[in-house]
Amino acid sequence: MRILFLGPPNAGKGTQATRLSEYLELPHIATGDMYRHHVAVGDGLGEKAKPYMERGDLVPDDVTNQMARERLLQPDVKRGFVLDGYPRNLVQAEFLDSVMKELKTRLDRVLKFRITGEVLIARSSGRRLCPTCKTVYHMEVRPPANDEVCDNEGTPLLRRKDDEPEAIRNRLEVYGKDTKPLYDLYNEKGLLVEIDAIGSTEDVFARVLEAIR
Ligand code: AP5
Repeated sequence: MRILFLGPPNAGKGTQATRLSEYLELPHIATGDMYRHHVAVGDGLGEKAKPYMERGDLVPDDVTNQMARERLLQPDVKRGFVLDGYPRNLVQAEFLDSVMKELKTRLDRVLKFRITGEVLIARSSGRRLCPTCKTVYHMEVRPPANDEVCDNEGTPLLRRKDDEPEAIRNRLEVYGKDTKPLYDLYNEKGLLVEIDAIGSTEDVFARVLEAIR
């Protein structure tokens, strides 16, 4: 299956995509995670992406499209994927379409995560990330066993710079302007399924499974 997750920042896409990719045994392809990796190792791509990410802006399309294409052409993606955070605007959606044609395949389903602004803010203020194993926590909903260190290997957890209030405001604006038009596009293609992203991670996962059935 080839599944795409769309939704505002902090809607829980990464949490559910990680789970679904394990369930379906398919790769989870998240452009945000790929960029965070490049920033952490400090390579050229990371240096280019960092200022855009910290402000909550989109990294330029040419860079993102090439990075996504390279990943989608890897052999482990042949059986399918859970794509999270890409495409994020109409230019990227058109490019993804061309990559799907190159691979002689198509998307099966696009899941839209529906959530309210209040819940998004609560999720962004509580989020913590393990920089080593990438596990995502929430200080109220999914706290680590010990104060602010990862359960897996004890690494101190980080707060993402783009979860600061100013960057969050900008990410929401960018989402409204650039990403929302994709809903009409995928709806017209008959691929869009909307899911309620409010509730426990278990409840939301049950809705995700229902939506891809
Ligand atoms: P990216 O990392 O993709 O950010 P995002 O799409 O804004 O999404 P988030 O990672 O913020 O949230 P999420 O929906 O995955 O929520 P999560 O599961 O973590 O992108 C970051 C940046 O990279 C972009 O701003 C841009 O600069 C760049 N970039 C990436 N892709 C790009 C592209 N295509 N083009 C250009 N630039 C690009 O959950 C959030 C919190 O809520 C967590 O703490 C979690 O534990 C908690 N939570 C999850 N589910 C629940 C639940 N059901 N109940 C309660 N809490 C929950």
